Amino acid sequence: MLKIENEIPIRIEPNENPFLNGLFAPVSREITAEHLEVEGEIPRDLFGVYLRNGPNPIFNPRGRYHWFDGDGMVHALEFREGRATYRNRWIRTRGFLAEQAAGRALWPGLMDPPDPNAPRGAGSDGWLKDTANTDVLYHRNQALALFYQCGMPYALDPRTLETRGVEDFHGALRRSMSAHAKVDPVTGELLFFDYATAEPFLTYNVVNADGVLTHHVPIDLPGPRLPHDMAFTENHSILMDLPLFWDPNLLARKVHKVTFHPELPSRFAILPRHGTAADVRWFEASPCYIYHVVNAWEDGDEIAMDACRVVDPAPSSARGAGELARMRAFLRLEARLWRWRFNLKTGETREQQLDDLKTEWPTVNRHRMGRRARFAYNSRVPHYEGLVKYDLVNNSTESFMFGPGRTANELPFAPRIGATTEDDGYIVAFVADANRPDTGEAIVLDAREIARGPIARITIPQRVPIGFHSTWIPGGELPR
Ligand SMILES: [Fe+2]
Repeated sequence: MLKIENEIPIRIEPNENPFLNGLFAPVSREITAEHLEVEGEIPRDLFGVYLRNGPNPIFNPRGRYHWFDGDGMVHALEFREGRATYRNRWIRTRGFLAEQAAGRALWPGLMDPPDPNAPRGAGSDGWLKDTANTDVLYHRNQALALFYQCGMPYALDPRTLETRGVEDFHGALRRSMSAHAKVDPVTGELLFFDYATAEPFLTYNVVNADGVLTHHVPIDLPGPRLPHDMAFTENHSILMDLPLFWDPNLLARKVHKVTFHPELPSRFAILPRHGTAADVRWFEASPCYIYHVVNAWEDGDEIAMDACRVVDPAPSSARGAGELARMRAFLRLEARLWRWRFNLKTGETREQQLDDLKTEWPTVNRHRMGRRARFAYNSRVPHYEGLVKYDLVNNSTESFMFGPGRTANELPFAPRIGATTEDDGYIVAFVADANRPDTGEAIVLDAREIARGPIARITIPQRVPIGFHSTWIPGGELPR
């Protein structure tokens, strides 16, 4: 049963940009589809909502379109009593509404020079459109959609996906919020950072379980940086100063060119969760870039952190290449699983590679975040061609490949109703299939037996473009 809720014609002229065509091409309809066709069976103890954010541009770009530029759209699958309902809705950000009113693109994209005449927007220096297209999480009965280069957090109804507006925590939000804010599963606190080209270059913030911003801590950095993620443990938070950043001389002329500095260390700021700037301790490690943290935890005197460490932060294929080739080289997200151990007693850092496989888009059971987790679920890169389940205690892996032409990037874990162990549940993901480009699909895997392949393949009656981050909201945590 398909209901078309709204339609906004996509006004993008024919082009060769891979991120506007094929499995990335935007959809024009917002729909609600119930009683979806299923091959296999949706388990009755799979109860909750899977949300996935991603770009879905509407207007012809002013310059070169970058995959990170499109208006945010959230796609959702609600599972209940063996059935699934699909919804997709644009996030009604201020940028989305302004462009709808104007009938055209108002902001330049990430690959374009800033436009001093464009309205003030989002991003680390305010010249990008506020799209909220990157990340989605669940905090205090609402979904929050976030932008990776820092924007306003947008609150959405977790079931209907209706945009409620900017969440500014009773007016206390000082500046903005980056993607990859974290929710502590035990205390219900929301931990987040934002970064900017003006001082303070990085801030760390805590919002408590009642929605009150309790901590706003400037983190001292030698210059503007581009952190993508942070980490937390039961008592500490970890922020990053990595040697891949904008050339400061060019930045002064508003030119945003990213340079890797292999002569500089990676630096990690560790502070108590409720600490101040004076409590920050810096730990150094080998130069690298990190998009996504798997998890962090406390282990005696040490803080351990697993993350996907980018193999080559300045890919040679990007050097001297055209803009499109550069974008594609940087978007390969080729990374390997890596562990850092920061010793709070000695100040030393130890680090090691955990696996040779290239994987990214890591997820863990959300209830284990900040504590030692045994299992991580990563996506194979660069083509999102398969899922790897890491057993981080026994150092083993199990894999499932999606099949020719099929891709799924982030695959969140959904605990079974009454789950008794960490991997007692399911993995849920939208799959894009080049063999069926106009049809969407979602798969459900048994997290304990991923090699078995999907136990349910759900047909979505329109394409779900390849997108970014996702979350799982257990049914018991949804508002009644
Ligand atoms: Fe990300």
